[in-house]
Amino acid sequence: MDVHSHARPEAVRVTHASLDIELDFQARVIRGSVRLDLERKDPRAPLLLDAKALKLGRVLGADGRPRPSTLGAEDQVLGPELKIELEPQDRSVTIEYETTAQCEAVQWLDPAQTHGRKHPFLFTQGQSILTRTWIPLQDTPGVRITYDARVRVPEGLTPVMSAESLGQDAQRAYLFRMQQPIPSYLIALACGKLAFEPISKRCGVWADPALVKSAREELLDTERMIVEAERLFGPYRWERYDLIILPPAFPFGGMENPRLTFATPTILAGDKSLVSLVAHELAHSWSGNLVTNGTWRDFWLNEGFTVYFEGRIMESVFGVERARMERQLSIADLERTLKELEPWQTELHIRLRADQHPDEGFSDVPYTKGALFLTRLEELAGRERFDRFLREWFDQHAFQSVTTETFLAFLDSELIAEDRTRYAALSIDEWIRKPGLPADAPRPSTDALNRVDRELTKWRLSRQVDAIDAGGWVTQQWQHFLEGIEQDLDAAAMSRLDARFGLTKTGNSEILVLWLRLAIRYGYKPADARLEEFLMNVGRRKFLSPLYKELARTEPGLARAKAIYAKARPRYHSVSTGTIDEILGFKP
Ligand code: BES
Ligand code: ZN
Repeated sequence: MDVHSHARPEAVRVTHASLDIELDFQARVIRGSVRLDLERKDPRAPLLLDAKALKLGRVLGADGRPRPSTLGAEDQVLGPELKIELEPQDRSVTIEYETTAQCEAVQWLDPAQTHGRKHPFLFTQGQSILTRTWIPLQDTPGVRITYDARVRVPEGLTPVMSAESLGQDAQRAYLFRMQQPIPSYLIALACGKLAFEPISKRCGVWADPALVKSAREELLDTERMIVEAERLFGPYRWERYDLIILPPAFPFGGMENPRLTFATPTILAGDKSLVSLVAHELAHSWSGNLVTNGTWRDFWLNEGFTVYFEGRIMESVFGVERARMERQLSIADLERTLKELEPWQTELHIRLRADQHPDEGFSDVPYTKGALFLTRLEELAGRERFDRFLREWFDQHAFQSVTTETFLAFLDSELIAEDRTRYAALSIDEWIRKPGLPADAPRPSTDALNRVDRELTKWRLSRQVDAIDAGGWVTQQWQHFLEGIEQDLDAAAMSRLDARFGLTKTGNSEILVLWLRLAIRYGYKPADARLEEFLMNVGRRKFLSPLYKELARTEPGLARAKAIYAKARPRYHSVSTGTIDEILGFKP
């Protein structure tokens, strides 16, 4: 039972969606129809769908005659229920519709927001409950469907989807099909001036033509990641694994749309230092896309498993030190956020009500606490045994949507039951249903980050920038440094650090954001222009949040934030404006 959907799949279940749409960049409208194929379990029950902010047209049966439909009361979070009365013989219905400016999944970009600056761009972001704002359907991860699509686009632009590409038909419309059953949040579309570069036989990258060669260089290790992932947890079931580098307005780092990960260009650091994001989105091909959280209360099943799996891929491809450093940084993040969240938000099996958007459960908790739970299990079981267990989990639940209860039952019967004394000290209840981080959470440490700690101590004692030995530091060491130096600065020290290490002009987005936050905190003016340029162009929520929050801490900072936001807001996706509106007290 998913409280975030109006669907009643136990009565009527959608099994397939067939889209026929046109992308009107002039009007900024997606227009067309969707045919939904149905499995009728209760022959008298109507079809209940999710549809939010859509302009609905006719609803037709397979015979071409209209079916009565009604739109229920508006609901801020879920949108209204769309009820369609079916005739006894109906095995499908077709809904004509178009999107509106209020459709939260869809973002239309001006040419100025793209790398090439000549062509407009469009992308959709479905997770968690936004697909209903561009396709009327049963928008719950508990319902899996196959889909196909026919997409008409302006001459010169290329559409791509989370599906197999079948080329163009006689009318030059692009054709797609996804033959594996997926949850609705994984249906995705992007369209713009795009070029493709292969990385291997089954893997490649889409991006702006001027960016695609360097993107390919950066992502060259992706094929090795797939090989390692398959070796760890079983065959890759989606045939191709491609990535698309979206314009910087994309609100996430990455989104695991099947066959085609959507990614922010801010991972292109030039030295492959941020490719753990690819390991993460690739890992979702198992944890999330193959075995899917049944409801948004089970979100940790997607993200916790994926962060764990990501770490294993990183370890295999880049070595144990890199993987541990990244884990250590994310634990530090988790500990900072645990202090800011309300206790209920720090429980893994999160208690979300229907009037709470799944986004209220979004934090480091499902990610890092979830991964630490699995790491703890690995510690107790031993790696070899735990790997076999995880592989069984994926194999036995492939193409299913599952809940926390299903996992806990499987854990008990397949792993814990064989040696209960071994797991006696483990409190599953504490990990899954209690707030905070249990005391037995594993805490990796690394020589590389310990070295940084020593430099931080030196700095605290001497305040000498020249005393800091940062020779050969990798990105993760810089992150640790900038997170640790926070309490001990002033504008003059910022200036000396910048002179020595060139931080304001770094091309690494993770380092830059940490630095810009310090620049705001300590009133370091030389970084102002870079900050504004960044906020105007990058829409990635994870980066915007800390910067706007930092600005909002002081009166003049808040005024400055509001001035920048007034210009930047129309350039952000709804996912990001939702969060920043709240930080700045902005009433749309
Ligand atoms: N599936 C998520 C993104 C997401 C989560 C979108 C919830 C909407 C609702 C994706 O896999 C993700 O976790 N992205 C992270 C990067 C990752 C390396 C932690 C991000 O975008 O920051
Ligand atoms: Zn994820």
